[in-house]
Amino acid sequence: MENYNRPNLNQARKRTKEQPKTIKYHEVKRIVNLGEEKKYIIQTHGCQANEADTEVIRGLLESQKFTVTTEIESADLVIINTCAIRENAENKVFGEIGRLKSYKRLNPNLIIAICGCMPQEEDVVERIMKKHSHVDLVFGTHNLNKLIDYLEYVIREKKQLIEVYSKEGDIVEQLPQVRDNRFKAWVNIMFGCDEFCTYCIVPYTRGKERSRHKRYIIEEVKELLRQGYQEITLLGQNVNSYGLDFENNDYRFSNLLDDLAKLDIPRIKFTTSHPKDFGDDLIEVIAKYPNIMPFIHLPVQSGSDVILKKMNRKYTKADYLDLVKRIYNKIPHVSITTDIIVGFPSETVDDFHETLDLVEKSEFEGAYTFVYSPRKGTPAAMYENDIDKLEAKERLYTLNKLVNEGYLRGNKRFEKQVVKVLVEGYSKTNSKVLSGYTENNKLVNFLGDESLIGKIIDVYIEKAKTWSLDGVVISKE
Ligand code: SAH
Ligand code: SF4
Ligand code: F3S
Repeated sequence: MENYNRPNLNQARKRTKEQPKTIKYHEVKRIVNLGEEKKYIIQTHGCQANEADTEVIRGLLESQKFTVTTEIESADLVIINTCAIRENAENKVFGEIGRLKSYKRLNPNLIIAICGCMPQEEDVVERIMKKHSHVDLVFGTHNLNKLIDYLEYVIREKKQLIEVYSKEGDIVEQLPQVRDNRFKAWVNIMFGCDEFCTYCIVPYTRGKERSRHKRYIIEEVKELLRQGYQEITLLGQNVNSYGLDFENNDYRFSNLLDDLAKLDIPRIKFTTSHPKDFGDDLIEVIAKYPNIMPFIHLPVQSGSDVILKKMNRKYTKADYLDLVKRIYNKIPHVSITTDIIVGFPSETVDDFHETLDLVEKSEFEGAYTFVYSPRKGTPAAMYENDIDKLEAKERLYTLNKLVNEGYLRGNKRFEKQVVKVLVEGYSKTNSKVLSGYTENNKLVNFLGDESLIGKIIDVYIEKAKTWSLDGVVISKE
């Protein structure tokens, strides 16, 4: 095996018409019980795509008899699954990598592996090679399925191995998984992204958009149903473009949702939707099925047409507001949340006010808000970044105040009402209090018995706060 296979952004940018192949995962027969008496710890940064990948990594490791630990002192293998979306996400990871150096000194056999989106960046790999020789293994998002081979190599050879590919690979089905939650599951429906929003690194770190065949998705959901799962979340960077990469096939996201809803899984969610591809067919299917949750995360990014164009979002403020109106008309009880970036290059005060205006008019019940962070290799990184950092922070602060009013308004509408809650477990802050999420994705806290965990129950809401609801249990379903 060649020791160093480094990423290349020019290659990552390329898109071909080539249809992705689907292959089935086969265990590496030559390697048996590589992890016997070895413990691993894995840290996950970033979005649900990474959380889902971590479940596969755990599946691969546990199929080789590695066991999980929560204490770094007792670990033989540390994996950091990284995110490249903003600079501060990366800084956190480099901080962790630095911190691991002292553990490696104490235990020279400790294997340190870095994976996920950061290794797909040229600079990151350079920096690890130059400054972090204590990292044993670096691999990317396209070759997760080879993890066991790589680990066997670094354990045997005691050499640093860097294996990052910039061209996406095949879709690998039937990978082992250890799911994090017993009631809620992630289900990938597609990989990659072809949108190329000018600020975003994801199309470079995750490759070309590739949809999974519906047969495999339906099989996976049926199996989850058999195992007693209550909720699935369909994952893709832009789920609305599901199937557009299929040749001679007009099966789209709304068709997939329709088929999955009929399987009678109690709750179906999906993320993320791109506004430009959100058609009336999709609105109708969400409205039609009670087991498709009335909760839509619909990132808008900006309310200014000038900025939206520079971001390559392919819709205007008016298009977005019209879409939101159509959604509210057909699904009146829906909750809509969004993502917004402030301080994009050349964003003026007027542009920012357009965003505030859009937030008010859209009646969002939540938003993730970010200060723009230049990502090397993306088009926007070449734009002159003329927004003062302090000014950008102030815009974020102003925006967040408005967004928080939306959170409270969204919670208030459930006061004195009965809602359905999927009970997740005891609250992180109070071990006597159970918590769970409603169909509209609102967090509810209430007193209750352990036996309720994993069930969907009726809860009466007594009080709404900005971030959560307080309720009392009425009945089990
Ligand atoms: N595919 C999803 C998620 C993308 S990442 C989508 O299209 O919505 C999640 C969010 O991070 C984005 O919606 C955007 O608001 C934010 N983001 C992406 N790149 C960024 C950057 N360079 N600086 C700041 N925020 C960014
Ligand atoms: Fe990034 Fe845009 Fe793709 Fe979302 S749709 S992952 S923001 S390029
Ligand atoms: Fe981050 Fe990669 Fe997701 S960059 S947001 S982990 S796709």
